[in-house]
Amino acid sequence: MTPGPPPDGEPVPADAALPPSALAGLGQRPFGLYVHVPFCTTRCGYCDFNTYTAAELGPGATRDSYAGQAIDEIRLARRVLGGAAVQAGTVFFGGGTPTLLPPSGLAAILSAIDGEFGLAPGAEVTAEANPETIDQRSLAELRASGFTRMSIGMQSAVSRVLAVLDRKHEPGRPERCVAWARSAGFEHVSLDLIYGTPGETDEDWIASLRSAVSAGPDHISGYALIVEPGTRLAARIGRGELAAPDDDVMADRYLAADELLAAAARPAADSSSSGQPEASRVSSMIRSVRRSAGVRTSRACPGLTPAARRAAYAAGCRTFHHRVPPMWLCAPGPTHHQSPLVQ
Ligand SMILES: C[S@@+](CC[C@H](N)C(=O)[O-])C[C@H]1O[C@@H](n2cnc3c(N)ncnc32)[C@H](O)[C@@H]1O
Ligand code: SF4
Repeated sequence: MTPGPPPDGEPVPADAALPPSALAGLGQRPFGLYVHVPFCTTRCGYCDFNTYTAAELGPGATRDSYAGQAIDEIRLARRVLGGAAVQAGTVFFGGGTPTLLPPSGLAAILSAIDGEFGLAPGAEVTAEANPETIDQRSLAELRASGFTRMSIGMQSAVSRVLAVLDRKHEPGRPERCVAWARSAGFEHVSLDLIYGTPGETDEDWIASLRSAVSAGPDHISGYALIVEPGTRLAARIGRGELAAPDDDVMADRYLAADELLAAAARPAADSSSSGQPEASRVSSMIRSVRRSAGVRTSRACPGLTPAARRAAYAAGCRTFHHRVPPMWLCAPGPTHHQSPLVQ
């Protein structure tokens, strides 16, 4: 694993202090935290996120020490943000696969955030999860430790499509995860879908949308498949093994999803007679681009741990971390600052 060149920006001083301009207005803006967990069991062929399998991690870095190091960095973040009251309105554990850490590890990180910053009343605390890494028991543990929202990577309901995406879960498992999450007390459960996978038909996409809606999440994200350079999917398309996604097909899939999800989100003409509670209707959002905000509502968002793309935002300042976990484990905390923040 070779680190890339250092980012533009000023090296962080030894005490990790933020530039004064970065601290201006802290406590007056919404505040949230993003915790990146860069581990996956296997790498899906389409994915270029900052994540590592056990084999890619190599010696010197394990998942076991991760929670403890993340907690060290939370304490560091609290220190450099000074005494301002900044309760977190949102906390987002993204991946990689956060649920490869045991629920006790995720709970310990969340508890450190609560202890250092405090969670605002009604704070939204999300964990991303792959369906094969959660079950009834782990979901109950996560809910009991303060997580309020699960975001589950379903991607497709069709086994042929899941195979092209290199997904490991069986069709039907994501829908069961939604039911388990509901029975564990999660009011908010979201499903991720991908459209435009090579070989996916219009019927496959409609079947995936219908399965996702009937599972009863309160949110569905539909992502257009992006063929990222350097991925196995890009190589397979390059060799002519798979067809590249077609723009017209993508546009049609987007429109089909828009129509189907809008209908699912529409209140029934007579909800009292349909018996469908308000909260059980799907609020849908179709995203044709991914990597929108890691934390959904916050502008002031320190990113902790070896964050995706190395970039994270701390108050009015962009911070960069070591990208590869063995280096971050030796030196948690940001390495470079860029201020003022250019959005
Ligand atoms: C950061 S991933 C992590 C979630 C979790 N590891 C999983 O795969 O279920 C979040 C979402 O990004 C989407 N995604 C990742 N790579 C993508 C790509 N190349 N094109 C479109 N969507 C992608 C997938 O839908 C995935 O669920
Ligand atoms: S899509 Fe999710 S499970 Fe697959 S490699 Fe990327 S982060 Fe890991």
